[in-house]
Order: sequence, then C-alpha cells, then structure tokens
Amino acid sequence: MTDKIPTRLGNVQETLFIPLAARARETRKKHPVLRDPKAVELVESIDFPREKYERSWGSVIMVLRTAVFDTWIRSFLQQHPHGTVVEIGTGLNTRFDRVDNGTVHWFDLDLPDTIALRRHFFTDTERRSTLAASVLDEDWMDQVADSPGPYFFVAEGVLVYLPEDEVHRTLTRLAHRFPDSSIALDTYGHRMMRHQHQRAEKGDVTAHWQWACDDPTTLESLGLRVLESTTVARPPQPFHSQLPLTYRALLPVLHRFMDRNDAFRLTLFQTPVPQ
Ligand SMILES: C[S@@+](CC[C@H](N)C(=O)[O-])C[C@H]1O[C@@H](n2cnc3c(N)ncnc32)[C@H](O)[C@@H]1O
Repeated sequence: MTDKIPTRLGNVQETLFIPLAARARETRKKHPVLRDPKAVELVESIDFPREKYERSWGSVIMVLRTAVFDTWIRSFLQQHPHGTVVEIGTGLNTRFDRVDNGTVHWFDLDLPDTIALRRHFFTDTERRSTLAASVLDEDWMDQVADSPGPYFFVAEGVLVYLPEDEVHRTLTRLAHRFPDSSIALDTYGHRMMRHQHQRAEKGDVTAHWQWACDDPTTLESLGLRVLESTTVARPPQPFHSQLPLTYRALLPVLHRFMDRNDAFRLTLFQTPVPQ
C-alpha cells in the first residue's frame, strides 16, 4: 500500500477511475470484450478509493462504450494509417496501446493534475504526445494542427461534465479548424442526467454531469454531420458478432433496462468537407 502512487485529483478528474477500473476488471475475465493489461497494472499501482470505483454494475456498459470507440478508431486508421488521433480527456486511457498501427500520430489531452498522474506511467515518443490543457482552451489545437491529418477526435465520458455552451463552442471550433475529420463522443439524455444527479447527491459519484443531449443529431447545427450513431446495447452488426457469447446474451437485457429510450448514445461525426 505504501508504495502506491497517491492521488490528489479534482472531483471531475477523479472520475477517470470509473473506466480504468472497468477495463482492469474486464481484462481479468476469461472471455473479455477487450484486454487492457496496462489498466490492471495501473489499478494495482495507484492509491485510489477502490470501494467507490470497483463496482461491477456499470463496468460492462463502460467497456462496451470503450470497445465501440476502439472499433471506430481502428477503422479510421485503416483508411488513414498516418493520420492523427486526439484523445480528449484521456484520463488513464490506454487506447493507443490497443489500436496503435505503428504509424499513427497520437495526442493524449487532459487537465494538468490528471496529466501529472498520467506521467508516472506513460512516456511521450516521436508519435505520441501528452497535452496538459483544458479541451476548452484553443492553444492545444495549434500543436495538433502541426501533426498530419486527417484527424480523429475522441471524447469518451468527458463532455458530459462540461456546460452545454462550452461543449457547443468547442465542437464548433473543431468543425472549423479541422475539416474532413472525425469526432466521436457519447451523449446522455436529460432523464439520465437527473438520475446521475441523485446518485451524486447520495455520494455515489464525485462530480455532477452538466451537459445533457437527448438527440445527438441536433449537434449537426454546429457544422457536423452524423456518420453513425449507436447504443452500447444495440451496437453495429460487425461489432456485435465479435462479442463474447455472454455479452451477446446480455445485450437484449441491457437494452430493456437502460437503452429503451436511446438516452445514452455513441455518435461518430464528420466535420465539413471542403468543396
Ligand atoms: C470519466 S473520465 C474519462 C477518462 C477517459 N476518457 C477514459 O475513458 O478512460 C473524464 C476525464 O475528463 C477529463 N476532463 C474533465 N474536464 C476536462 C477538460 N475541461 N479538459 C480536458 N479534460 C477534462 C478528466 O480529467 C477525466 O480524465
């Protein structure tokens, strides 16, 4: 215990342990949706409130979400092997290790305290850089623009913690600054946000969600076009058929209990294509 890395993170930053613990837990299964040995190493090396974050009920949903985003990025890299991926609000995400094709350029962006923790475990390389900044700043975009396009921006479990006007401003900036690129993000409806606030008030989670979006197609008004939109309980067919049997059996149940009104969606957008 004493050798573990201590953490001193803000309330929103601390939520990075939710998907991290979920990926570690999944990796220990016999037939996992994804393997993430680095996540196992990280949860064993960091002193964090395990009792709070190692709960099982949400971890299945969390890893399905991550696996859908991984699939979209692999497909982007098949088409653009030398392109650039930006992991917005990366936390202790290890996606690069899962999808690296040997030529991608990669940025992991997060707030300074998260990045300070991250630096204990990850080193920058020629193709992989860390950015200590808020997604709401603009300076980091200059650094990204120096890297070869096209670009894939992924924000997993991040934008929901930001106010709606800031989310809209950031997406509009990305749409203008990085044409013909991709943005993948998750959205949660107002009913889910009210439920999350009840959990936060009970102390189950540290941070309140701030942005609810009932219908991600409404974000097209910011200059984006929806390429694909899915739910974790009804993922696209190629993804579905690769899932372990236990997951395929579980998805209809998940759909009944959480996804019926499509309140939680994963959406892939394209930024404007120059004429
Ligand atoms: C739920 S965690 C998700 C972490 C990671 N995306 C994953 O799936 O493992 C939310 C992350 O968003 C980051 N975050 C929150 N506000 C941010 C901001 N304004 N700019 C950049 N990152 C932010 C937090 O520090 C945290 O790492």
